[in-house]
This record gives sequence, C-alpha cells and structure tokens, in this order.
Amino acid sequence: MSIRLNTKYLDKFITEEELRSMQGQVSDAAAKVENGTGLGADHLGWYTLPVDYDKDEFARIKAAAKRIRENTDVFIIIGIGGSYLGARAAIEFIKTPNYNALTKDSPQIYYAGNNMSASALGELIALCEGKRVTLDVVSKSGTTTEPGIAFRVLRALVEKQNGGDAEKIKEHIYVTTDKAKGALKTLADAKGYEEFVVPDDIGGRYSVLSAVGLLPIAVAGCDIDELMRGAADMKAELAKSGCVLENDCYKYAAIRNILYSKGKALEIFVGFDPAMTMTAEWWKQLYGESEGKNGKGLFPTSVIDTTDLHSLGQIIQQGRRIMFETFCDVKSCGCDISIPTDSDNLDQLNYIADKGITVSRVNSVAMEATCIAHTDGGVPCVLIELEDRSEYTFGQFVFFFELACAVSGYILGVNPFDQPGVEGYKKNMFALLGKEGAEYDAIRAKLGK
Ligand code: PA5
Repeated sequence: MSIRLNTKYLDKFITEEELRSMQGQVSDAAAKVENGTGLGADHLGWYTLPVDYDKDEFARIKAAAKRIRENTDVFIIIGIGGSYLGARAAIEFIKTPNYNALTKDSPQIYYAGNNMSASALGELIALCEGKRVTLDVVSKSGTTTEPGIAFRVLRALVEKQNGGDAEKIKEHIYVTTDKAKGALKTLADAKGYEEFVVPDDIGGRYSVLSAVGLLPIAVAGCDIDELMRGAADMKAELAKSGCVLENDCYKYAAIRNILYSKGKALEIFVGFDPAMTMTAEWWKQLYGESEGKNGKGLFPTSVIDTTDLHSLGQIIQQGRRIMFETFCDVKSCGCDISIPTDSDNLDQLNYIADKGITVSRVNSVAMEATCIAHTDGGVPCVLIELEDRSEYTFGQFVFFFELACAVSGYILGVNPFDQPGVEGYKKNMFALLGKEGAEYDAIRAKLGK
C-alpha cells in the first residue's frame, strides 16, 4: 500500500489498551458503513464507487477531457465546496500548484463560483480575453448561489465568444449535476450541453471519484484509471481486517476519537509541501462538514510547513494544549535539488552542502524535528506516510480519509453525511437579498428589514 499510519509519536498520549478499548465502537461504526444501517445511509455511494462506477460515463469523461484538451485554452471549473475542492486538490497534488505556469500541453485551469468576489470573477473574465474558454459547471443541487451567478456570467462570455452558435457553444460547456432534477439539469437538457452525473447517493464532499472530480482531473492530464485503481486497492486492503490495531483507517478514526475525548478540540492537517495546500482544504471540508454538528466535532484546520512553522508553529508549540496534528509525509516528491558548496560559507550552510544533503532531505528532517518538538510540547502527532504524489496514491488517500471520516463520525454519534448547518447563512442572505417567500418575510421581520 502507498499509505501507512505510523503511531511512533503517540506513545505518551495513547496506550495500546485505550486503542483496544475502542474495538467495539469501531466495529459498530464500520458495520454501519458496510451494511448501510447508520444515519445518512442513503449517502453511502462513495463506499462502493471505486469498484462500482458507471463505466460508460467513465469512458465519456475521458473522451470529453481529450476534446477539451484539444479545443480549449482556458478551462474553468465552476463549483463550491465538494463540487470543486477534490478536483483542485488532486490536480495540485498530482501535478503542481504552479500548474498554469508550468503546463505546456494542457489548457490553463481556473476555478470560479467558489466565492462571491466581484474582483476575482472580473480578473478571470479579463484573462479569458482572446482565449478559447470551456466551462465545467458542477452543482449537485443546481441551485447554489455562488456557482449559479458565476455560471450566468461566464456562460454569457462563452456564448459571445462563439457568436451565439448553439453547436459551437455546446463544445465549450459541460454540466455535472443531478441525473434527474434541478435547475442546472433543466438548462443542460434544453441547451443540449453534455451532462455528467453526481450520483444521488454521494454527497459533495465525498464526490471526488465521481464525474465531479474525474472530468477536471482528466483535463489536467492525470491518469484517472490509476486514481480509481488506487482507491479500489485501498478499499480491498482495508477490508482485510476489522481489528483496530491492524486496520490503519480504523486506527486513525479511533485515535481521533480518543484524543477528542481527552479534550483535544482541533485537529491540524500538516503538509510539508505547497502541493498539499488544496489537499488540506479538501480534508478540512470532509471532516468539518461531516463531524461538526450537534455541538460536537474536532475543528479541522491545516498548516503547510515549513512555511507555517514560522507563523502558527509558535502557538502549536507553546499555546493552549487543545490540538493534535496529523502529518502527511510524502516520501518522494519526484524531484530533488542538491545544495551547492560555497567557499565563503557566510550562511554557514556548508555543514549540509558538504555532506551532499539535498533539499528534500532537509525537508524530511524538518518534519521529523517538528514531530519530536511538538510531541515534547504536548501535541500528539499522528503520522500518515504516503509513497509519492501519483494518481494511484491520491486515489488511496481519498478512500482512506473518506472511510475514516465516516467511521469516525459514527463513533462520535453524528450523521457524517448531512450538513444542515450550512443553510443558516443562505436563508439570511436570501432574505436580505429580497427573495420572495413567507420564510424570508419572517427573517426580514425578525431582523427589522
Ligand atoms: O459537501 C457538500 O455537500 C457541499 O459542500 C456541497 O458540495 C456544496 O455546498 C455545493 O453544493 P452543490 O453541489 O449542490 O452546488
């Protein structure tokens, strides 16, 4: 397997006995996922997805990606939350966060509809000038305000670029939404845009291995067969043992709940490479939306080191002891750089250079040093080791953390598949924007508007 859990820094925080004592809860939670007997069981489609996916649609995704790579200069993924985070995480992890600057043979890739910033949208419109633009609008509900507005604006741009020619426009707009209902589905049917499906039984944050993630990831030139193979292999591996001491995924879920029960309120995802930045964002949404309800849940946050060791490192080392960290250590980033010897040695780095220690080696030593320091400072450090930044490893990573999240959420006693709390701001926003309806009238009356 390309992913392993290493508990070597946890000895002084969790005993083997404590882990063993979680076996019953872990088994119950895992059975709820396996048998569909827990809360939100109608949203378990992600669990079988790595092996049970629509092969015809998969082939269509590959064909569409090939066309887009040939006829597009700027490819824009319009979506928010689970409708874009997984794709962006995968592209930046597998390729690079500097994708647009470094890619030569693929369309430039941008993201829209994940905020309400007029300047962000305006800048995107400006950079589309004179470029062949293709849109992939992704929304399960088809009614989310942020992507809805961005799609209206960018669709007008694509229509204008193609002189209003319906056939040409169809080559530059793709829709990923519900298979049967919603405003986006209705529009796509009417206009004849090519459609891909967000399966009914898969929520946004668990959807990266569906068309939601696969089309953009394939457009970026990643091998989506390898991605699915990684996820399927991880599923098979994790099915081998239900023992909390042997199954890394269950062990991680148990560790999180033990630390939570000991008063830890925050889990910090730690990457040691900027390529992990969006992976951390994906992970934060997955865990935050899945567990943060009923007054419960670890607050998921993230740092990218060594960068953040020079900012948040201070509070992690010596602030309130309310957090633990989950380090994701990528063993090989596929590149290394030697450090030149300098006869003046004014920066006193020859002690590294003379020994032939490379930049990657310094990074991995920095991670080890950080784990030791934070452990000494009273911060439990979970270590997840990843082989590399391949598609295969990313597929394994996704399934590992999705299953761990579901099991962990069930241990916590919540429904890991709903997100009722996100409606709060929406209702107020609709009311303040003057949307019609008794519900919004009541909010306006309450707010005195
Ligand atoms: O995980 C989720 O369900 C959410 O983050 C959604 O993905 C997000 O709110 C976007 O919803 P939709 O795809 O319906 O536009």
